[in-house]
Parts: sequence; structure tokens; C-alpha cells
Amino acid sequence: MGKVVAIANQKGGVGKTTTAVNLAAALGLLNKQVLIIDADPQGNASSGLGHKEGDIDGELYDLITGDRSIADVLIKEVSTNLDLIPSTVELVGAEIELVQKEDREFVLSKIINQIRDNYDYIFIDCLPSLGILTLNALTSADSVIVPAQCEIYSLEGLGKLKNTISLVQSELNANLKVEGIVLSMYDKRLRMANMVVETIKEILTDPIFETIIHRNSKIGEAPSTGKPILLYDISSKGATNFLNLAYEFLQNNDDEIEHLNVKTIKSKTAANK
Ligand SMILES: Nc1ncnc2c1ncn2[C@@H]1O[C@H](COP(=O)(O)OP(=O)(O)OP(=O)(O)O)[C@@H](O)[C@H]1O
Ligand SMILES: [Mg+2]
Repeated sequence: MGKVVAIANQKGGVGKTTTAVNLAAALGLLNKQVLIIDADPQGNASSGLGHKEGDIDGELYDLITGDRSIADVLIKEVSTNLDLIPSTVELVGAEIELVQKEDREFVLSKIINQIRDNYDYIFIDCLPSLGILTLNALTSADSVIVPAQCEIYSLEGLGKLKNTISLVQSELNANLKVEGIVLSMYDKRLRMANMVVETIKEILTDPIFETIIHRNSKIGEAPSTGKPILLYDISSKGATNFLNLAYEFLQNNDDEIEHLNVKTIKSKTAANK
């Protein structure tokens, strides 16, 4: 049965989608079967994996309303061993739909349970809010990964998020764990970034991934090509960071690690083009 991991932080632009897309794609390249669910009406995970609004026929919103089946909306192999349930701006309507539903926090979890067995890992890319969609994601999840930017304001937001996670743990999903905080957009030239990393490590009792995602222009460019960083530029620092994050994630989950050298991945990505 696949492990469900929500990627959440109500603060916008901290690297949620970048982490979801690139960690999922890296795990796919490491021979895990992976699904990514785009739970954000901005649809950034979908477009970052090559599926823009105009060419999406069926999406998460249709599953929430019950109008379509999973087989109808699932896009297979958007990258090696990686499937996608996409979203577009239509998903804005889900906030209203869900509020009216019975068991409204469990709608996504019921959808995921139908396909859980098909995957090793299922990632949910959350929107920047702690509304009903994010509650559904946290209720469905076994764990949550929290990307946090290496800047001082990120500490404030983390407190609010921790309260929500505690609330979900006590009311909706006692099994929810914090998989880890991923420090993102690190710039070693900035003294502030170093200070924030040290402060976060001192204050938080939650696990923090050893792997830090550096600010890297290739990571910023990749989404416009519809490819994860490992397929866009395998030799970039960003690709190395996400491959290391995937190794660390697998190690933390006591999962088998098939170490691939860059050459092997290069040949796989070439085949994928
Ligand atoms: N390590 C990085 N280096 C360079 N650019 C990055 C990095 N991480 C993210 N970005 C860029 O920063 C922007 C915000 O990142 P991302 O979309 O992942 O954040 P988010 O938390 O998902 O945002 P939102 O809250 O709007 O969903 C994007 O344009 C992304 O390409
Ligand atoms: Mg996002």
C-alpha cells in the first residue's frame, strides 16, 4: 500500500510545487511507482509536468464532484514511473463543493484509497492556504513534508502550520507524521540564510532533511519546459539536490535504494525525451 505524503505550507512561493514535482520525479527515476496529485487551483504541478489548462480533459475537481472516474482523469507516465492527477483553476469550486459534503474532510482520502495499492508513494501538492482542500490533503496523508524558505519570515508561518497539523492529528488523522522540513532556496552568499537555517535547527523539534535545496536558476527554468529538473538538466546543482533528497527520503522510510549513477539516469532521461 502506497505511502501518502502531503507537501504543505500555507505560505506562498516557498517551494512546495518544486519539491513535489522534483522529489516525485526523482523517486520515479529510482524505480519507485509514484503518483502526484495536484491539489492547487494554480495547477503549477500539472503545468510543470507538461500539462497546461487547455489540454487537460478531466481533473481532480471532477473526482471531488464525483462526475468522473480516476481512470478518466489520470495522466500516465508524465515522467519515468510517475503518474499525475492534474488540476486547473476549476478546483477553486471544490472549496465550495466540499463544504456542503458530508464527511467533507475525507473526500480526498476516499479517492486516494481506490488507487493506493498501485503506487509506492503518492504526493499531494497543496495550495498556499489552510482551507478545506489542505485539510483533505492532511487527512489523507501518512506524513507531511514542509518546504520552508531560508528567510526569517518563514519561522512565523511554521508555527501556524504546526497548529493545523496538531489539530488534524487530534481530530481527523491520528496517524499523520511530520516527514520533515525541507529548507529551500538556500543561498550561501546570504548571511541571513545561514542564520535562518541555524535558528530553524535550534527551535524546531520536527525532523529537518539534511539535504538543503539551493537556489538554482535551472530549477526556476525547468517548469516552463514541462520537465522536472532531473530531465531538464541532470548536471545542474538543482538535480543533484533533488536526487539527494530522494535518497534521504528513501533511507528515512527504510525503503530499498537503487543507487543510480548519473550516466544511467542520463540514458533513462534520453529515452524519455
Ligand atoms: N531552489 C530554487 N531555485 C530557484 N528557483 C526556485 C527554487 N525553488 C523554487 N523556485 C521558483 O520559485 C517559485 C516558487 O516556487 P514554488 O512554485 O515551488 O512554490 P510554492 O510553494 O509551490 O508556491 P505556491 O504557494 O504559489 O503554490 C517558482 O517560480 C519556482 O520555479
Ligand atoms: Mg505551488
